[in-house]
Amino acid sequence: MRYLEFAVAAALCVVGVSHAQEALAGKKQSDSDKALYTVVDGYKVDADTLAGFRAWRAAACDRCHGANQEGMVGPSLIESLKVITKEEFIAVVRDGRLDRGMQSFGNDPRVMDNIDHLYAYLKGRSDGAITRARVQAMD
Ligand code: HEC
Repeated sequence: MRYLEFAVAAALCVVGVSHAQEALAGKKQSDSDKALYTVVDGYKVDADTLAGFRAWRAAACDRCHGANQEGMVGPSLIESLKVITKEEFIAVVRDGRLDRGMQSFGNDPRVMDNIDHLYAYLKGRSDGAITRARVQAMD
């Protein structure tokens, strides 16, 4: 019985620490004082990051990259965003790679007006700080 109480207390402690780390994760990615994204509990995000998620949904990127960004016809963006720069990300989304099946979103204001936010959302997913694809507003 004592052991059980200890185990529960230890588990709660670990959860608390990991939440704190998640909330900080975006800050490490940004060289300005504003965090690239802010996330609590793995899925509650700031308004800008939420706008990025909405752009992802509106453009239906999931048709090719998968509902969880893990890749389908198109590559896993979880993996891609560990490798490509923000500038490369913006260029490929704007111009597409038409010969290779990636469409161009340069004429889609839902995407281009939110390109920084879309990048922040996907970077949070790629970093593992945003732990599920469907996010919601922070309290
Ligand atoms: C019609 C299918 C399709 C849709 C819709 C689509 N993509 Fe892609 N995307 C692809 C394919 C296929 C590739 C791989 C192109 C290649 O081989 O270079 C790709 C490549 C990419 C890359 C480059 C990955 C890398 O590692 O170089 C990024 C970033 C990307 N897509 C983001 C997006 C975003 C964001 C959206 C929504 C705004 C989107 N894509 C919508 C098919 C799609």
